[in-house]
Amino acid sequence: MIARKVPHMIYGGDYNPEQWPEEVWDEDVRLMREAGVNLVSLGIFSWAKLEPRPGEYDFDWLDRIISLLHENGVMVNLATATASPPPWLAKLHLESLPVTENGVVLYPGARQHYCPSSAAYRERAAELVRRIADRYAEHPALAMWHVNNEYGCHVAECYCDASAAHFREWLQARYGDLDTLNEAWGTAFWSQRYGEWDEILPPRAAPTFANPTQQLDFRRFSSDALLGLYEMEKEILREATPDVPITTNFMSFFKPADYWKWAAREDVVSDDSYPDPADPEAHVGAAMSRDLMRSLGGGDPWVLMEQTTVRVNWRERNVPKRPNEMRLWSYGAVARGAEGIMFFQWRQSKAGAEKYHSAMVPHVKPEDSRSWREVKQLGAELGKLDGLLGARGEAETAILLDWESWWALELDSRPSAAVRMLEGVYSFYKPLFEANVPVDFAHPGSDLSRYRLVIAPNLYLVTDEAAENVRRFVAEGGTLLMSFFSGIVDARDHIRLGGYPAPFRELLGLLIEDFVPMAAGARNTLDTQDEGSYECGLWADLIHLEGAEVVASYKDGFYAGTPAVTRNAFGEGAAYYLGTRPEERYAKSLLQRVCEEAGVKPTLEAAPGVDAVRRRTEDASFLFLLNHGEDAVEVGLRGSGRDLLTGEEHDSTLTLGPLEVAILQEKTR
Ligand code: GLA
Repeated sequence: MIARKVPHMIYGGDYNPEQWPEEVWDEDVRLMREAGVNLVSLGIFSWAKLEPRPGEYDFDWLDRIISLLHENGVMVNLATATASPPPWLAKLHLESLPVTENGVVLYPGARQHYCPSSAAYRERAAELVRRIADRYAEHPALAMWHVNNEYGCHVAECYCDASAAHFREWLQARYGDLDTLNEAWGTAFWSQRYGEWDEILPPRAAPTFANPTQQLDFRRFSSDALLGLYEMEKEILREATPDVPITTNFMSFFKPADYWKWAAREDVVSDDSYPDPADPEAHVGAAMSRDLMRSLGGGDPWVLMEQTTVRVNWRERNVPKRPNEMRLWSYGAVARGAEGIMFFQWRQSKAGAEKYHSAMVPHVKPEDSRSWREVKQLGAELGKLDGLLGARGEAETAILLDWESWWALELDSRPSAAVRMLEGVYSFYKPLFEANVPVDFAHPGSDLSRYRLVIAPNLYLVTDEAAENVRRFVAEGGTLLMSFFSGIVDARDHIRLGGYPAPFRELLGLLIEDFVPMAAGARNTLDTQDEGSYECGLWADLIHLEGAEVVASYKDGFYAGTPAVTRNAFGEGAAYYLGTRPEERYAKSLLQRVCEEAGVKPTLEAAPGVDAVRRRTEDASFLFLLNHGEDAVEVGLRGSGRDLLTGEEHDSTLTLGPLEVAILQEKTR
């Protein structure tokens, strides 16, 4: 359960009552009841109203709205309000403003205009949080804490002098002395050797490529600096309310923050997610984010903290969700472990930069709006799903994801700037999604023993421990599928010498002599041992076999006839290697082969466009069926079940209309 005080599926949104006269609040709570709202995230951007002048606090309005919500049965996910400092902070402390790598100061007037290392920001934020925590600690409406908002969304790193000093402290803790740092950063190159700590700077705009280890460490530091702010607030809240769960809202696959580290410090994982309705594959990317959120929390339930009812305001063209699409995507999240569905925001703003962003309560009268009808329908339906609480996923396949490797892979001056982490991940995720194979994400250093199949897309940077962990997984009987440019560097971004990929050569039974990054649009052909022919592009490894068998080889180019895809028996398991980016058709067939070999089964074999996901409790099993397609489909069932949404019993088959969903409580398995 996410929050003891809301022992149901959570339903609600960001609530910004400070944007409205108090008369509107009465209508708000009436409509919240009508929609089945049981939790709102309150006061996220209210610092300037709570502390209108430095040290002068006004909590009366917040007292009134919290009480009103409570009287109406709506619990509160109370924000710490630190995401957007009032303009007076910048006036008093110009140095609290963030600075870009080009030395540009980011001024107030939007939001998130603070340097994560600013002492003034930290002090003022801590004081505000202390006051909020003390004032509302015992309030019966307080169900959860919402720390700050989307850390790093606009300002993920700061290059000012305070950040430089903080960076140096962080480096001292990591390396101890300058010799070790010089060695780690490879400063013998280009005369970069540091003689004193205060010579070290963040990687500010420079004549050409900055030192890669400096860049990598700055990414680590910047994620940690933000995390330090979160921890500062968390400590204050924990002391005041040891039992109230604490979260901060993530942004799906957000590169600047190492969410493995962050999630370990949260009581509940929560995510903000805005798939683009204009993208025909939006639901696939969304599912991938949902699987990440569940995995970050170790399989525990999580909250979809923000999504939009219809459209956002911040794309070039803000295409709306189609009727029923919001409902379908919401269940896509529930299927993958969400036990809370919330929106940005409750009532659509009438002023400010987000007035064209849809909300639960639109500008037009609710009764004239299809989105309000959808909001009410979803609220009513979620109210029937208490039985699902605590049901968990059942993935036997894990995709490895490591933020440090992601950062290092995408630094500049690599063999190909076109190799992007998430594209690699997606190239495996999509075929698995389409085959209804459940997937977790896992850190390469984590316990992999519960999986049958592990996929390692472009695992460029590996520590010795992670490399050993992956080897052990295969030695003990697991099946591995690893793709190109893996195991190339250590945690310092130094090449692991001894032939690529040094830590995995024995495991994969091969040696890579060199890489062939391909020109934009260039293609090669993969000839498979069973006489298949497929396209590939982006990259080719020049592979020499050292025990592995060939699964496919290149047809063209100066390396024609050399292996592109290999398989190596290792210990009790097997390790596949994919030295290129194949077309989707091949990724599909290769994944089918490795799944079969690993004994990984799909949740259900269904028509294209049908997403089938299972969640289980100890004594019940729930099968989610979601039709993302434009046409009605018939789904064959392995047993019978009762649809929790309609109450209908289904035996052996079920017809799903376009964008329709069913949640079957299964009778037989
Ligand atoms: C983010 C923020 C919200 C709002 C929405 C708009 O998720 O957290 O405050 O700006 O984006 O999509």
